[in-house]
Amino acid sequence: MQTILTGVRANEEPTIGNFLGAYKSMVNLAHEHAADSNINMFVPDLHSFTTPIDHSKLYAQVIKGIKYYIAAGLDIDNPNIHIYRQSHVPAHSELAWILDCFTPFGEASRMTQFKEKSEEHSNAVTVGLFNYPILMAADILLYDAKYVPLGEDQFQHLELARNIGIRMNNKFNEELFTIPAPEEEQVKFMHLEKGLRIRSLVDPTKKMSKSSDNAKSKISLNDNPAEAAKKIMSATTDSEGIIRFDMINQPGISNLLTIEALLNDRDIQDVIADWAGQTSYGDLKKKVAQTVESFLTEFQEKVAAVTDEQIEAVLQKGEEYANRVANAKLAQIQRAVGVRK
Ligand code: TYM
Repeated sequence: MQTILTGVRANEEPTIGNFLGAYKSMVNLAHEHAADSNINMFVPDLHSFTTPIDHSKLYAQVIKGIKYYIAAGLDIDNPNIHIYRQSHVPAHSELAWILDCFTPFGEASRMTQFKEKSEEHSNAVTVGLFNYPILMAADILLYDAKYVPLGEDQFQHLELARNIGIRMNNKFNEELFTIPAPEEEQVKFMHLEKGLRIRSLVDPTKKMSKSSDNAKSKISLNDNPAEAAKKIMSATTDSEGIIRFDMINQPGISNLLTIEALLNDRDIQDVIADWAGQTSYGDLKKKVAQTVESFLTEFQEKVAAVTDEQIEAVLQKGEEYANRVANAKLAQIQRAVGVRK
């Protein structure tokens, strides 16, 4: 059975960028494939403190992350859907160490996210921040995941995971790991034309980032829905005066069209056609503001309805499964590298 796997970190409140890039893609794929695929959705909680955080809040944030997975629409009664925490499956960290030793330093040094984040946090660049993509490779390779729904910013890390997997399979002359599909195939699998990158509402040349200090640049999943609508109304656009999908010259307008399409489960081309040639940015913003407001209202109601008992049951089942699969894979790798008979 093939495995589809993804995770969203729990260090900050997720945005609609995370929702559309990861949660929604995963929920759509689960609807399509859960009958004959493993759907693994985990919280990479050990990835949460590669940059400084308030550790007293982390546990509650992780549990909230699990609630979000359920509220986003994963069917927790389906036996093929597995929800778990990375920290509760020790094989992730153990495999990460082994993979470290098969990852050339130069290759890991090319990760653009490390370069960006180490500039942003120049007084707190840890080995963990550098090592983060290799732990991510372990998260993926441990479960033989073929498909990994991600936003565009994470595809370089997926490519690294593929390279590490291919290198180890070749070195040990054995199909140790399933190699995840390359970016182009992943994007097709998600029914997209290219990797998704929801933009900042303040500077639409940049991605919407949950770690941004500017609350106006992002719609967080716990935003007050009416306040979120106001952020859309004041989103940066351009002075072209005509609605067109053109990410280069009109990234603000194109971003709004993308959000409108995806939150309504509509084909982006249909939404573009609806608005093509219209001139009122105000009308478009009003429509997207309404879409965002009702999305958040509904989503937050679903989050509030998730019970502690559901979370406990889901984690117990998910972590039992994850430990079983991950320990078997780890043992196979330990045998290959020569530390287990
Ligand atoms: P994280 O927590 O930064 O982001 C979670 C997911 O959200 C996507 N994303 C976006 N998609 C579209 N537009 C945006 N503006 C946007 N911002 C974020 C990200 O691409 C990602 O899919 N390293 C991962 C977590 C992780 C993981 C894994 C994922 C750890 N191990 C194994 C998959 C498989 C991360 O930091 O994502």
